[in-house]
Amino acid sequence: MDFNLTEEQEALQKMARKFSEQEIIPYIQEYDDKEEFPWSIIKKMHEVGLMTTAVPEEYGGPGIDMVGQMLVTEELCYGCLGVGATMAASALLAPGPVEVGANHEQKKYFYNMLNEGKLAAFCLTEPGAGSDVAAMSTTARRDGDYYILNGTKQFITNAGVADVYVVFATTDKKLRFKGINGFIVDRHTPGITVGPEEKKMGLRVSDTRQVIFEDVRVPVANRLGAENEGFKICMKALDLSRPSVAAEAVGVAQRAFEEAIKYSKERVAFGQPISNFQAIRFILADMAMEIEAARLLTYKACVQAMKGLPFTHIASYAKCFASDVAMRVTTNAVQVLGGYGYLREYKVEKLMRDAKVMQIYEGTNQIQRVVISGHILK
Ligand code: CAA
Repeated sequence: MDFNLTEEQEALQKMARKFSEQEIIPYIQEYDDKEEFPWSIIKKMHEVGLMTTAVPEEYGGPGIDMVGQMLVTEELCYGCLGVGATMAASALLAPGPVEVGANHEQKKYFYNMLNEGKLAAFCLTEPGAGSDVAAMSTTARRDGDYYILNGTKQFITNAGVADVYVVFATTDKKLRFKGINGFIVDRHTPGITVGPEEKKMGLRVSDTRQVIFEDVRVPVANRLGAENEGFKICMKALDLSRPSVAAEAVGVAQRAFEEAIKYSKERVAFGQPISNFQAIRFILADMAMEIEAARLLTYKACVQAMKGLPFTHIASYAKCFASDVAMRVTTNAVQVLGGYGYLREYKVEKLMRDAKVMQIYEGTNQIQRVVISGHILK
């Protein structure tokens, strides 16, 4: 057992932190205020390789391992969750079903898109089916060498900015999980439209919309895996991506922690910095402990996955624990800053707004507890 990062991992972590400090933090408040997608930042991220860390070497990528991918995710989310989540949805979540279920040609097509700087989106959730994936209503009706897709997807990260979608649809809703299929879909296929940008509590720079499919013809060759095997491909992909939500949460929490420390050393009350008071010191100590525990769980989920060991439950521990930690840490950071923490000018207000979504997306924390309790009681 070794808790140290390798030299390459440390270099990657430093590079991503520097990018966050120089290219994200100085500019992001304006994007957040305007609720604007930060194209210029995303393009720079692509140029320096931060949008393709998970592309395997045989498909022209750097083939960075899962721990390395998490280090990048954490550091980008230290800068801004919306930026990190744009990267994670395109570069980690959407590629998941491809990595798990695609053939060589499909991988070549999909990874080429990422290598060219195109974005991807993962289209699973529907207006009436979020936690209950098997209840989805988007249909895939076979018609010769094509499937015809009809239905609506909801809360899709990158919907309006992506060029390629990974879409799940059912051949027969009555079959529940046994009717689901995943497809790689060119976003510009006739019949696909996107809804207006959702107005959100946090994650405001991220592009979130509905995606509507009306008689969209998708070649059978674009189906991932065998017919009706899509549910398990999807679950395995979510197992792989949930640690990245944990890494996002660690990044957001770390930032809030550092902002709270800085403020507590500068702010004077009763004749001394408030960091001298036990009330503040204990809050900071709890933050430090919880962030470190969340980080270690994140790494553990990755190491289990990389070793081919069962990790579904650890991915859920990490996602659930880290996002709960991020919510607590950001809320307490606002408390440490007091009235100033509640002002937009002081960064922790955004961190607290952003943190909430991580307890909800990629499986609510209640669903993570369903997965965990199912595992421990099996
Ligand atoms: N790996 C492999 N197989 C799995 C699996 C896994 N992790 N989980 C389940 N399966 C298999 C089961 O073994 C079972 O197969 P068998 O009968 O052959 O054994 C089959 O799949 C069905 O499993 P369940 O009965 O457990 O399925 P369920 O219908 O009860 O649902 C669930 C399980 C865990 C609740 C699942 O629906 C789920 O994960 N829900 C949350 C969905 C989610 O995370 N959505 C996030 C959307 S993406 C997003 O948020 C990002 C964004 O862009 C905003």
